[in-house]
Amino acid sequence: MKLGIIGCGAIGKDVAKAADMMNDIEKIYLYDINPTAAKDLCSSLKKASIKPVDIFLKDVDVVFEAASQQAVSTYAATVLEAGKDLIIMSIGSLFDDAFRRKLEDIARNNHRKIYLPSGAVCGIDGVVAASIEKLDNVTLVTTKPPASLGKSVEKRTVVYKGTARGAIMQFPRNINVAGCLSLAGIGFDETRVEIVADPVETRINHKILAHGRFGRLRAEVENMPNPNNPQSSYMASLSAIATLRKILHPIQIA
Ligand SMILES: NC(=O)c1ccc[n+]([C@@H]2O[C@H](COP(=O)([O-])OP(=O)(O)OC[C@H]3O[C@@H](n4cnc5c(N)ncnc54)[C@H](O)[C@@H]3O)[C@@H](O)[C@H]2O)c1
Repeated sequence: MKLGIIGCGAIGKDVAKAADMMNDIEKIYLYDINPTAAKDLCSSLKKASIKPVDIFLKDVDVVFEAASQQAVSTYAATVLEAGKDLIIMSIGSLFDDAFRRKLEDIARNNHRKIYLPSGAVCGIDGVVAASIEKLDNVTLVTTKPPASLGKSVEKRTVVYKGTARGAIMQFPRNINVAGCLSLAGIGFDETRVEIVADPVETRINHKILAHGRFGRLRAEVENMPNPNNPQSSYMASLSAIATLRKILHPIQIA
């Protein structure tokens, strides 16, 4: 398989390094709006080269986005129209219903898939299954060190409480997990989100609470920050690598 990567920051770097070690991946193409980021990463890999997206699209099977919501708006439709599968990390971009439906239509018409890694949260599998029946409520409580939310507070402070849609609009880079949870369960307007800035916290804590016909779910993860970007959880990189392995592997844990 040939892989194109858009975004060579913390997550792109982790995925590229893992892909470089995978026997089933023969070539990796890198693109970053910051040429130095792509160049530095490329020099540490065996199978990689740097190319603009429109050039590498001709050769790849799958494109992995780990850049920004802006990058998803710019490239997602083109990637799917070119007949390539797409893995999206900047899931917050999909809260725009018209945009998401457009991508779904293009993917369907081109027999392609859009993969959304579970990212920094755990428990998405349970929410997907539970949503087959009635789900009464789904709540995400995210607690972060204030700096990783761009805040400076002295004590534990709830900085947002409301819908997932509102959370993504207010914290576009910080709360992709709310996007993934919404799409897994009851949508952007029904999913409740609470974001807490806590100076005592050293890790990024995500807690999913759900209640429905299936019973009750409570899934909590305490994430170590990514060494290359303290705002990103390392788990997000691992879940992206797991998605890539899932695409390649004959046995699927669904
Ligand atoms: N789904 C999740 O759980 C989850 C978790 C963490 C981060 N994210 C999202 O994943 C994305 C990457 O996160 P990261 O921690 O690697 O960020 P990062 O800031 O470390 O790296 C992003 C890289 O993308 C590049 N970039 C930005 N816009 C671009 C564009 N339009 N075209 C090409 N390159 C572009 C930047 O120059 C940078 O090198 C972000 O959007 C972030 O919000 C998602």
